[in-house]
Parts: sequence; structure tokens; C-alpha cells
Amino acid sequence: MRSELELKQDIVEVGRRMWLRGYVAANDGNISVRIGTDEFLCTPTGVSKGFMTPEMIIKVNSGGEVLSGEVQPSSELKMHLRAYRERPDVNAIVHAHPPVSTAFAVAGIPLNKKFLPEVIVTLGEIPLADYATPSTDEVPEAIAELVKDHDAVLLANHGALTLGSDVFNAYYKLETMEHYANISLAAKQIGGERELPSERIAQLMEVREKMGIKGAYPEFGKD
Ligand code: 13P
Repeated sequence: MRSELELKQDIVEVGRRMWLRGYVAANDGNISVRIGTDEFLCTPTGVSKGFMTPEMIIKVNSGGEVLSGEVQPSSELKMHLRAYRERPDVNAIVHAHPPVSTAFAVAGIPLNKKFLPEVIVTLGEIPLADYATPSTDEVPEAIAELVKDHDAVLLANHGALTLGSDVFNAYYKLETMEHYANISLAAKQIGGERELPSERIAQLMEVREKMGIKGAYPEFGKD
């Protein structure tokens, strides 16, 4: 099991990767990790997530009260805490504005086409949550239903959210989402994505089930 310091270092490393890959600009994005029944680590508000140090990471409880840390926690902490409430199986959450995924969120297009086997197996359908003013109580309300069945969600006119078993798992889902969004956009420019036929999807659903991955394609009865 990783120590609290190691978990803070993991958050710092994921912030650095998000910034390096251009998934966030300026002070965008936030990251959190569940460390106990009522304890979470989260990034501070208003700093570049590419240049954090472990001392900057804040500890909060499920009510959002600061347990340790010098500065204010993320302005989107309520969104993270709501997602943890809906998903007891999830231990880490990442929010960023990866440009191509966010372009789909701005255009009002969910990432729900079934054309890449890896994405079908690991992420499933990526729905679009209704627009909500950032940092307000509207945001947790907008994502609450969707995170029950999805590990990756687009936030309309805002960005993206991914959930995982640990902070790297949540971050990799963000990478997978952005890669998939890039491929989708490129395919649209050369004739459009050709989705896999339903019998091929059914085979991938079996792979998903063997891997213990749930949710995301309710129409295939695997939610
Ligand atoms: P924080 O710096 O407060 O986490 O906000 C960044 C952000 O992306 C808000 O949506």
C-alpha cells in the first residue's frame, strides 16, 4: 500500500503529465485521491498542475473541510466528492480540458461511437453531461447520474472527467479518451468512423466481462 507521501507524489506526477501533454492550460484541471473512508487528497486551487510539489497537496474530508494544507482546495472539489459518493469502487478522479475531447464537449457530441476495440473494452461509451457553471453545485448534479455507469464523462462546454482505481488508472483513461477523440476527429475528415458490427461488439463485451469491467453500454445489458 502506498504511503500518503507517495500518493501526493503520484498526484504531482499526474499533474505534470497532464500539463506536458497539453491537457490543461494555465491553472486548469484538478486531481484527487481517496485515502480513507472520510479522507481525500486533492490539488490546490489556482495553481499550474504541471508544477506542483507534494507539500501543496491538501487533505479534506467528505464534507469538503480542510484537514491539512496551507491553501484552498480545488474549486471543483464538490464534483470530485459527489463522484466518490456515487462510486465506492473508485479511488481517484482527474479533471482536465484536453483540447480534442473538449472540442467534442463544446460541439455537444458525446464520444459514443464504437469503432476502436480497446476503447470499447476499457472505457465504453463516453457520455456528455449537461452544461453547469464551473465550481457551483450544478456541476456535481450534472455528473451524478452519469458517473454511476461511466469512468469517463465529457462536461459540456467545459472539459472532461475520468475515474479510476488509482490516480494513474484515472489519468490513463484521460489519455485514452483524448487519443480516441483525436482518431475520431481525423476519421471524420477522411470519410467518417466505421463502427464495428454488433456481433463484434458482443465479443468485446465478453472480453470486458472477463476483465471485470462494468457499465457504459447499457444496451448490451452489461451495466
Ligand atoms: P481549480 O484550480 O480550482 O482546481 O480549478 C481549475 C479548473 O479547471 C476548474 O474547472
